[in-house]
Amino acid sequence: MEKIKFNKNIVLVGFMGTGKTEVGRILARDFSFEFIDTDDVIEKRLGIKVPEIFKKFGESYFRDIEREVVNDLSDLKGLVIATGGGVVINPENINDLKKNGIVICLTATPEVILSRVMGNDDRPLLTVSGKLTKIKELLKSREAFYAKADVTIDTTNREVLDVVKEVKGVL
Ligand code: S3P
Repeated sequence: MEKIKFNKNIVLVGFMGTGKTEVGRILARDFSFEFIDTDDVIEKRLGIKVPEIFKKFGESYFRDIEREVVNDLSDLKGLVIATGGGVVINPENINDLKKNGIVICLTATPEVILSRVMGNDDRPLLTVSGKLTKIKELLKSREAFYAKADVTIDTTNREVLDVVKEVKGVL
């Protein structure tokens, strides 16, 4: 286990396919922090998977539950929290996550994001035919929200461990 003086949460935000979960798991392992993925918590709370939640109840219901989960998690400490890509849309979420944590935004180019999410059908917002166009649209509409993070780290064409090292350097 690596020693860390940092006693707040390490929060990873960023678009789908930017490596939040993979980077987060390694950080949590290295620091012996608990790893939490907000999508997993939402799925456990509702007992169904994210695509089903979108299909049955719609995106706005998913966002409500996501809001509740973030609110609950933000009171805790010593966590690595990987968030869903749309968590930033609600400014209350970012405010909550910053309360006890450093918020790190992972980024990648639309093309790299596409290559990472291809062949994976668990992302309801990307189950469209023009995936690259959709990714670009969503990125544009979320740009200002992602910019609210404390730190931004580009993951394009980088090894996961290299990204992990950069995250550790900003703590
Ligand atoms: C979403 C991202 C997904 C998941 C849901 C909505 C988004 O999480 O929360 O499909 O709005 O960008 P990942 O970023 O972990 O794929």
